[in-house]
Amino acid sequence: MPIHLRAEPGDYAPNVLCPGDPRRAAYIAETFFDPGYRCVNEERGMLGFTGTFEGEPISVQTTGMGCPSSGIVFEELVMLGATRLVRVGTCGGLKDGMRMGDTVIGIAATAEDETPLRVAQMGSYAPTATFELAEHAARLSRESGATVHVGPILTSGVFYDPDPTTFARWKRTGHIAVEMEAAMMYTIAAVHGLESLAMMTVSDLLEESGDTSRISDEELRRGVDDMMRLACRVATGTSAG
Ligand code: HPA
Repeated sequence: MPIHLRAEPGDYAPNVLCPGDPRRAAYIAETFFDPGYRCVNEERGMLGFTGTFEGEPISVQTTGMGCPSSGIVFEELVMLGATRLVRVGTCGGLKDGMRMGDTVIGIAATAEDETPLRVAQMGSYAPTATFELAEHAARLSRESGATVHVGPILTSGVFYDPDPTTFARWKRTGHIAVEMEAAMMYTIAAVHGLESLAMMTVSDLLEESGDTSRISDEELRRGVDDMMRLACRVATGTSAG
């Protein structure tokens, strides 16, 4: 039994959704899983649930925020037999024309945090999504009518950045959004031979000037709900019905 996920192999499905927020993990299980799911972890409030989605086994596990917290959870999910990790959450949008509630699929995640490189044990490394999952997610998102942006994202170790030039620097190299966990997940998935994908809803718009705006609670709920349902389909490998 790992230290932070107090569960045994078999308690988690091979396909695991990974939100940062425990309340979102509980919401995903309640809203999208078939009746009969069960709680498999409560340690540190990092809620995890296992059940089925349209009959297919699935789990959802909270990761917490940032690479160090999420890295512990991703490693322990590997120990417990996970083979596909799908991060679901929010991101700050960097690309011009992006709107609140749009979907972002991160095909690569540049880390501005040392933790993924420590795990990769390389001087430099390009954390990358599993192409088939990205392709599937993009197709399902478009079919659902969502506005989806596919591209490289930035995994930052800092939310409250004191440097007002940071967003412009990230945009210069083509990053479309910023969040705080994907590069950790892609690195751990690569090291252990798992599949992984990060899909997010735009919750903040980040201007080149350093200015930011934040989504309303209602807009966020709508955007996240649509994206979570798709994420369940991507995680279980089922197509849109
Ligand atoms: N920065 C980093 N992570 C985020 C943001 C942001 O602005 N919004 C949602 N996740």
